[in-house]
Amino acid sequence: METIVSGMRPTGHLHLGNYFGALTNFIKMQENYNCYFFIADFHMLTTHPNPNDLQDNVRIILSEYLASGLDPEKAVIYVQSMVPEVTELYMYLNMITYVGELERTSAFKEKVRQNPNNVNAGLLTYPTLMAADILLHRATKVPVGKDQQQHLEMTRDIAERFNKLYTTDYFPLPQAFNFEGELVKIPSLDGNGKMSKSYGEKATIYLTDESNVLKKKIMGAKTDEGPQSANSQKSVEIENLFSLMKLVSSADTVKHFEDAYADCSIRYGDFKKQLLADMDLFLQPIRERIKDIYSNQAYLDKVIAISTEKARQSAKKTVKEVREIIGFRNDI
Ligand code: TYM
Repeated sequence: METIVSGMRPTGHLHLGNYFGALTNFIKMQENYNCYFFIADFHMLTTHPNPNDLQDNVRIILSEYLASGLDPEKAVIYVQSMVPEVTELYMYLNMITYVGELERTSAFKEKVRQNPNNVNAGLLTYPTLMAADILLHRATKVPVGKDQQQHLEMTRDIAERFNKLYTTDYFPLPQAFNFEGELVKIPSLDGNGKMSKSYGEKATIYLTDESNVLKKKIMGAKTDEGPQSANSQKSVEIENLFSLMKLVSSADTVKHFEDAYADCSIRYGDFKKQLLADMDLFLQPIRERIKDIYSNQAYLDKVIAISTEKARQSAKKTVKEVREIIGFRNDI
């Protein structure tokens, strides 16, 4: 059976980008693949979080993974820092990863622009740690959103380089993957790039947003002066609202508003009200489950205990085999 690996950084609540870009894929794939889903807390250290925030953010993501439908009976759901074998693999992979290629990644360049005073070596080698996360279980597929595509290309290059250097085919070359076909990019509410925490709270919808918060965000979303002629091109703001509607509304509803846009009869107030109602209906049960699971520390601990053991078994096996391939001893 093919193995898949994916993870998310614990930066607070998951948003619709995380959910529709990656998590829905995890949920479908857990049925037919050997799955490892982890919480990337080592990756968070590039931003120097304080210990309490780090702990709580891990608990939030774990609750939100489970509330969304990840099943610990089907998939291994673990916390990266509890499987420290990944750091050994990360070190080996760093020896075959070039500074030039790390400096060229767009995520790195973007972070340097955002935080010029915190360009640490962990930030530079972030893609190597990602490669280690994936290769640790010798995954073939990695369900992620479009923004992670470049990192996946690097993982493939690193795996290929390892295989060449040691004349082996030990690592499969993993692919970024979306269950439905293309990798997706979920837009923000205000037409400003992808949905992301770093582009502003108002334009980001979280799985935990209550009805009143949703109302403020959706009814307050930017629009334009409306279609000026039949079948005119949509502005980015309106296109994004339609994209979000496609995620949570029925095909009939979307068609109704598409037609209304095309013949210029659309009223943005009604359009947003419908989007709000459907979004609220969609999120309400997830919100409820998140609250229940988050407050059940004993259950969360149980999930972690069972999964950590399974993840470590797989990780130990890989690291042992990699050490042998490189030429290190494992016998004493
Ligand atoms: P992170 O934590 O930024 O995002 C988690 C997942 O959510 C997806 N995503 C989106 N997809 C579509 N549209 C959006 N607007 C959107 N926003 C976020 C991301 O593509 C990702 O799949 N480096 C990774 C975490 C990671 C990882 C790994 C992933 C660490 N090691 C190994 C896969 C395999 C990250 O920062 O994702």
